Amino acid sequence: MSLEVEKPVLVPATVPVVALDGPTASGKGTVASRLAALLGFHVLDSGLLYRVLALAAEHHGVGLENEDALEVLAGHLDVQFDCDGRGDSRVILEGEDVSLALRQETVGRAASLVAALRRVRSALLNRQRAFRELPGLVADGRDMGTVVFPDACLKVYMTASVEARAGRRYRQLLEKGFDASLADLTQDIRNRDMRDMTRTVAPLKPAEDANHIDTTDMGVDEVVERILIWVRQQPELAAFAHQAQ
Ligand code: DC
Repeated sequence: MSLEVEKPVLVPATVPVVALDGPTASGKGTVASRLAALLGFHVLDSGLLYRVLALAAEHHGVGLENEDALEVLAGHLDVQFDCDGRGDSRVILEGEDVSLALRQETVGRAASLVAALRRVRSALLNRQRAFRELPGLVADGRDMGTVVFPDACLKVYMTASVEARAGRRYRQLLEKGFDASLADLTQDIRNRDMRDMTRTVAPLKPAEDANHIDTTDMGVDEVVERILIWVRQQPELAAFAHQAQ
């Protein structure tokens, strides 16, 4: 008779999700891709979907307040996200590489407008949830922990001062070869915060069970390290993340 005890096979009831929410330019995107690479998880940049929709609306001459047409467009978006395995992804909209165009501030502003429409958000809900695949997902956005993945194992709410965020966005834009004005960016971030936080549908706010981080004076590595500590404290997450130990 064998005295060996069979090890239980861990099968998750649901695919584990780390939800990262916060205002624009709080560093979520960089942290999300770094974390996903470390954990071996998939990554969802949900803001990119709203940006894609805003760009598609521009291409098709659809007004940013035309909820009927935007709902249809959101339901039929012909978009692919290609990941090259190094964390860089290309976005192909209707056969065209729009990765760079999506990063323009005008597109971010337009995304914030279409994202305030209830039927647009509903039309994009299942597309976002489809990113939830084994071994796990790191999802970045405004309502990941409150609406899209309310059962996420770990929820993080990242903030930073308006000045720090404007400075980061300014440097990012210059690096990508875009023109930028720090004063305009600061004002734009204030307007975006106001719109994203005060809209009636899925406003930006921390989930009740979210862990908070103010990244104003923190580097990316420090933020990732802090989140990894929380990951290790969640057995159902740590079991599926290949470098959480
Ligand atoms: O994260 P971002 O800057 O790429 O997002 C662009 C806009 O999309 C942002 O101003 C608000 C909106 N957004 C949203 O409403 N909900 C999300 N989950 C992600 C983005």
